[in-house]
Amino acid sequence: MISFVGAGPGAPDLITLRGRDRLAAAEVVVWASSLVPEALLAHVRPEATIHDSKTMTLEDVLAVYAAHPAAAIVRLHSGDPSVYGAIQEQIDWCVANQRDFEIVPGVSSMAAAAALVRRELTIPRVAQSVVMTRLAGRTAASMPERESVASFSAIGATMAVFLSGARPAELQKELLAPGSAYGPDTPAAVVVRASWPDEQVLMTTVGAVAETILSTGARTTVLVLVGPALEGAAARSHLYSPAYAHQFRRRSAPGTTAGRPA
Ligand SMILES: C[S@@+](CC[C@H](N)C(=O)[O-])C[C@H]1O[C@@H](n2cnc3c(N)ncnc32)[C@H](O)[C@@H]1O
Repeated sequence: MISFVGAGPGAPDLITLRGRDRLAAAEVVVWASSLVPEALLAHVRPEATIHDSKTMTLEDVLAVYAAHPAAAIVRLHSGDPSVYGAIQEQIDWCVANQRDFEIVPGVSSMAAAAALVRRELTIPRVAQSVVMTRLAGRTAASMPERESVASFSAIGATMAVFLSGARPAELQKELLAPGSAYGPDTPAAVVVRASWPDEQVLMTTVGAVAETILSTGARTTVLVLVGPALEGAAARSHLYSPAYAHQFRRRSAPGTTAGRPA
């Protein structure tokens, strides 16, 4: 079995219990030392074989899988593997080679960043959608044309921008492109290495996002959150309103709690 395991954003206690158990049972581990903290390897048995994928190509990684047809293999991916994890090409290989595989989800850096800035990303009547995206950058060929940061900015939803720390000016320009629903005062957050010991968390605005990113000195492992939801003041949600009934709770009169006096 090959387990693609989400390692979480960095802190070793932000891996899931299932992910930790897969690491503890692994005979072979492939991990990226540039993206995943070494402390996670404390869960791995001493007799397991460990490969650092930092300098490996996809072919090198697949050769490791091929060389261990019956082993319990863990491939550790940063955050959640479903987001910019490059797991699909490995899944395709597993299917083509009739290898059993599973995906163990992880805490995405987007969730870690939202926790650090103490904000909900979906505020009633302000933003009910989150766009996870990136600038085109060096891998421009991967980017469908319709998915530019500028075109998503026209929607005005909460945006989580990955993989773009090296292009601060371009990011700010696209966020404020003609037709954007954001303005220079729209709140933004720049989070570098969320949950690592040297994390940086900076609240800013779209108009100052480029200089804020530059001020961190970081070009990689930067997550930028953007949108009015980061303002923080919430209209109250329907879900916990006494007037809103659902499967587990009946509607209650104003001034009462779940049908009882408040
Ligand atoms: C290859 S992508 C992997 C994303 C990962 N699968 C996830 O769910 O967070 C790497 C990008 O994710 C973001 N990232 C990953 N870990 C981060 C962290 N601890 N703090 C801030 N950003 C992070 C950065 O934008 C970085 O450039």
